[in-house]
Amino acid sequence: MNILVLNGSPKGERSNTLKITRAFLDGMCSKQRHNINIVNISEKDIQHCRGCFTCWTKTPGKCVIKDEMGELIEQYINADLIVWSFPLYYFGMPSKIKAFLDRTLPTSLPYMTINEDGTSGHPPRYDLSHQRYILISTCGFYTVKNNYDALFRQFEIMFGEKLTKIICPEGELFSIAQLEGRISEYLYYAKKAGEEFAENDRISILMVSGLSVLALLDVNATLIICSSYFLFGLMWLVSSFFKIPLSAYYSSHDYNGDEAFENPLFIKTNRILTTAWGLMYLIIATYSYFLMQSALSKYTGLINALAPSLMGLFTLWFSKWYPAKVARG
Ligand SMILES: Cc1cc2nc3c(=O)[nH]c(=O)nc-3n(C[C@H](O)[C@H](O)[C@H](O)COP(=O)(O)O)c2cc1C
Repeated sequence: MNILVLNGSPKGERSNTLKITRAFLDGMCSKQRHNINIVNISEKDIQHCRGCFTCWTKTPGKCVIKDEMGELIEQYINADLIVWSFPLYYFGMPSKIKAFLDRTLPTSLPYMTINEDGTSGHPPRYDLSHQRYILISTCGFYTVKNNYDALFRQFEIMFGEKLTKIICPEGELFSIAQLEGRISEYLYYAKKAGEEFAENDRISILMVSGLSVLALLDVNATLIICSSYFLFGLMWLVSSFFKIPLSAYYSSHDYNGDEAFENPLFIKTNRILTTAWGLMYLIIATYSYFLMQSALSKYTGLINALAPSLMGLFTLWFSKWYPAKVARG
């Protein structure tokens, strides 16, 4: 997947927000290889849109301004996932990334569409239906309420259902060295969110953000870690009752993509596998609870890494063996 990360913090690499973004990307890459391009918007020559509409009239799709935006807009069009990573400035986005956004005007057509609810918009010039968007943002205040209302509305209008949000209030705490322990716990959950996003295409945001808040509130680590395994297991188990169980989404890549969802044997195989993964995480949650309170506590991470690896090997074997067995009769 081509991932374009737009780091809109004027602090560039020192951005608090970018720390969460990097952890999230690490999580995504632990599941699959991705082509990631991180652009520090503050270092780029991006002039302001002049509002001349030449990109809609005389030179359709091309801006008259000759700066680095020409190259960036190509990367924007070719990305499968666009990560908007920036701090909240006055209830909106920092000015340079707003300049970037305004300069994406050539990607829209000049015509106006009328939606069912009477609202209107401009259709895209390019087929961007494959694109998804993530907004990762930190802010100074302790609350999202009233703070992010305008920005959320703007992003929802622009990207609708294809938008996922990760918001972290009190972002300045990321720069406090004494909080290193708390910060790495928070980043652990940001990484987990990335892993889940890569697996499920969507974050079960309530779960991840709920657990991260618990981490920040100093709730017992054993409880948080065990609940995260428990909820993860539950999510897999529940999904085994859905029309398309979770494991089918990523094994479909090896079986003609979406066409595989029409194959009852493929779905049945994955229903069994999804149940097995769900049960495995529930078992991990249970033994981790006791292990973490025993003398073997330091081996919990190792054992918990081993279990999914073995289950991965079982998945590889079972997804070949079971369909062959059914075919043989
Ligand atoms: C000009 C300016 C405006 C800001 N406006 C807000 C705001 O409206 N709400 C808020 O909660 N924090 C606000 N902040 C705080 C930043 O969002 C916060 O410091 C953030 O964590 C910085 O992230 P970064 O390190 O990724 O740049 C503002 C900061 C600056 C410098």
